Amino acid sequence: MTYRIALIPGDGIGRPVTEAAIEVAQKAAPDLLETVTFPWSCETYLQTGRMMPEDGIETLRSFDAIFLGAVGWPALVPDAVSLHGLLLPIRKAFVQYANIRPHRLLPGVQGPLRKEGFDILCIRENTEGEYSGAGGRVHVGTPDEVAVETSVFTRVGVERILRFGFEQARKRRGKLASVTKSNAQKYSMVFWDEVTDQLAAEYPDVEVSHYHVDAICARMVMAPESLDVVVASNLFGDILTDLGAAIQGGLGFAASANINPSRSAPSMFEPVHGSAPDIAHLGIANPIAAIWSAAMMMDHLGEAVASARIMAALGATTAQGIGTVPGQDRTEAITRAVLAALD
Ligand code: NAD
Ligand code: IPM
Ligand code: MN
Repeated sequence: MTYRIALIPGDGIGRPVTEAAIEVAQKAAPDLLETVTFPWSCETYLQTGRMMPEDGIETLRSFDAIFLGAVGWPALVPDAVSLHGLLLPIRKAFVQYANIRPHRLLPGVQGPLRKEGFDILCIRENTEGEYSGAGGRVHVGTPDEVAVETSVFTRVGVERILRFGFEQARKRRGKLASVTKSNAQKYSMVFWDEVTDQLAAEYPDVEVSHYHVDAICARMVMAPESLDVVVASNLFGDILTDLGAAIQGGLGFAASANINPSRSAPSMFEPVHGSAPDIAHLGIANPIAAIWSAAMMMDHLGEAVASARIMAALGATTAQGIGTVPGQDRTEAITRAVLAALD
């Protein structure tokens, strides 16, 4: 049995970290992965006027999983064009509504909080909300200009992501934090609170807390160990997971899985970070976030042993102090250390 994986390295550090992650995954699961690389990126846009071919989504549909590095090169292509042309349509078209982002410290990583023992699973709604793309601008460039960006929250969308969160909480420490801003946003977020309470009745074994997004930001810094599963909307989840990355040592450590729980289409795995143009040519991108994402992919494919081996190799690497200090070790050296730890 082999799995067909679509690789989209993308832009900037997306390329070296994808290469590292796949090399590690191939070694952890010899002969199991058959990869096809799609060089879709901002360069593709400059050459063709599109981030991916018109039939790009259909091309990806037949794969067992997608692995993506990072998309975006704002000096050449506006971010709103590149991201709405590649990453965001994949999440939406393949109904990858659950974006799972774990935040915990690997052994030996000195997070800025110098605080260990937290294990947060952020679950971000990934297909609607603030990223619906609905809106517009009028009187552009005039003093009367108005820009509107409409958030769309559907009962189907809110219920399924919260239910996913409750199920995860049940498998973990039984705690769910539901994140809103329902003190200021009186339609969508009050609706989100109501759905949370309706589902809570079905999960009496899960302890539910409601947090406003500002308050949970402070809690993630001050008392991260008090949190278990955190469920948030698309934008709030995006922001919270860069904060989560920061408390786990930096963006080089934060992994993610864009999951289609019904498996009606492929899921996609990618680090939380972007293309990092500031360090893209220096050879110092930390590949750990991407390698961790590859471990999440193996787990999703049903290869729990290979996934656990990758996570153990990451832990063995950071425990030796390799890859733990931003900029200190080269991508290549960190990758070699992880590969060696697999032996
Ligand atoms: P970024 O995540 O690319 O970088 C933020 C900071 O973190 C930078 O200083 C960078 O050097 C550092 N950093 C990120 N990943 C690192 C790693 N693995 N190792 C070491 N340092 C790392 O965010 P940004 O600068 O806001 O965005 C750059 C581009 O990437 C933009 O075009 C943005 O839209 C895009 N982006 C894409 C994705 C994605 O494809 N999933 C995610 C975030 C941002
Ligand atoms: C992420 C990224 C993307 C998002 C951007 C690049 C559109 O920040 O995956 O966290 O906001 O979803
Ligand atoms: Mn983000």
